[in-house]
Amino acid sequence: MTCSPLHVVLLAAGKGTRMKSRLPKVLQPLGGQPLLAHVLDAVVPLAAARVVVVVGHEAAQVETAFAGRELTFVRQEPQNGTGHAAAIALTALPDDGCTLIVTGDTPLITTATLERLAAAGGQRTLALLTCTLSDPTGYGRIVRNAAGAITRIVEHKDALATNDAAVLAIREVNTGLMCAPTAWLRGVLARLEPKNAQGELYLTDIVGRAAVDGLAVEAVTIEDEVEVAGVNDKVQLAALERALQERRARTLMSAGVTLSDPARIDIRGQLSCGSDVAIDVGCVFNGTVVLEDGVVIGPHCVLTDCTIGRGTRVEAMSVIEGAAVGAHASIGPFARLRPGTRLADDVHIGNFVETKNTTMGRASKANHLAYLGDATVGERVNYGAGSITANYDGANKHPTTIGDDVHVGSNCVLVAPVTIGAGGTIGGGSTITKDTPPGALTVARAKPVSISGWKRPVKK
Ligand code: UD1
Ligand code: MG
Repeated sequence: MTCSPLHVVLLAAGKGTRMKSRLPKVLQPLGGQPLLAHVLDAVVPLAAARVVVVVGHEAAQVETAFAGRELTFVRQEPQNGTGHAAAIALTALPDDGCTLIVTGDTPLITTATLERLAAAGGQRTLALLTCTLSDPTGYGRIVRNAAGAITRIVEHKDALATNDAAVLAIREVNTGLMCAPTAWLRGVLARLEPKNAQGELYLTDIVGRAAVDGLAVEAVTIEDEVEVAGVNDKVQLAALERALQERRARTLMSAGVTLSDPARIDIRGQLSCGSDVAIDVGCVFNGTVVLEDGVVIGPHCVLTDCTIGRGTRVEAMSVIEGAAVGAHASIGPFARLRPGTRLADDVHIGNFVETKNTTMGRASKANHLAYLGDATVGERVNYGAGSITANYDGANKHPTTIGDDVHVGSNCVLVAPVTIGAGGTIGGGSTITKDTPPGALTVARAKPVSISGWKRPVKK
């Protein structure tokens, strides 16, 4: 039964050759997080005495990615197989209690399953997490004797090399996760030999030795194939991404969110939704996104680290990042809200409008083809089509202030730093280089000149 203390070893040193990528396998992203982050999140609630992570391929990169966490890193050089990796991990552990070994490439594993496996391990027991798969290709097979006891694990490649049809036909596989007494592990791992198709030290070989050493081998079985799926290549990564997104979509729908198509949503961070939120197809959510009650998100929007207030509609193809949008606002289609955008209630941002580091007061509107950067806009302002803040002089950024009830006509250039006085009107086509007084009409453009009788050139 359970032995304490519990230690956890995470195997994350492999190159992930089958990924054919420069990025180490355990850093490949799934649902916006590295594979290993998912595994770590499942491990943390176990409150293990120590969590040892074995790194090797691009070790520094992996260590940096998880620098903020309470982990002990050990380096495996060269990467001589899962048994070699586990042996190196044990150099960072005392001989007490049990050690739970978890592969870094099974990202959807849950804390509940890890708890079950840890509970099954004991001073005289090696517990293995096994699963019966419809297609066991690539996995190590669980070989049992006539009495049903587990006698060994045979890797897929080795069964192929020896043309062992009986083993290849076994559908019960090793998930790669196991729990065993730490002291025994240390001894048995030291005695492993690389007698196999890959010339590596296999962690799985400890199973055959357990019986010899008088340990019981116990299988903890799991039904859910997806939870224990190991990711070795991009095809498996993509399949698991879909599985993860489907889970996230189901969680949202269970909480009352309307998804036009749960198969066409990508949540790559933390998405929180109020009641009666509706999300159309093809949307991507990154970082921390909050959609308050009654928010409607149109098709193909990308939302990153933002809050959308009650009853606001974000129309198709809008891109929002680092912004806070108030209630009952209307954004898009084709709007781009960049970091530092703060929009009050009832604001309208229309097509091809870009805002950056800009605050807009209640009921202000920029409906067409406009840019507002480093601007503080008051309430009930109407900002005309094609108008821009010229906030950058080539070296520095400058602020623009627009008072309440201002009306900026079409195609204006507000050359910052500049203040447009409250209630003022700026005539279309004006280039404003000086502060304008409140309440006045300011026009800054050349007077129209008409030349009568002028002839257009003709082709020679
Ligand atoms: C392994 C198991 C297999 C099981 C499968 C489940 C062995 C020999 N095989 O095979 O029985 O069905 O997982 O997914 O254990 N790693 C290291 N150092 C190394 C090699 C690997 O740390 O030298 C790490 C990898 O980073 C990875 C994990 O160990 O996170 C598993 O390695 P991988 O090469 O994916 O093993 P599989 O072939 O999938
Ligand atoms: Mg694997």
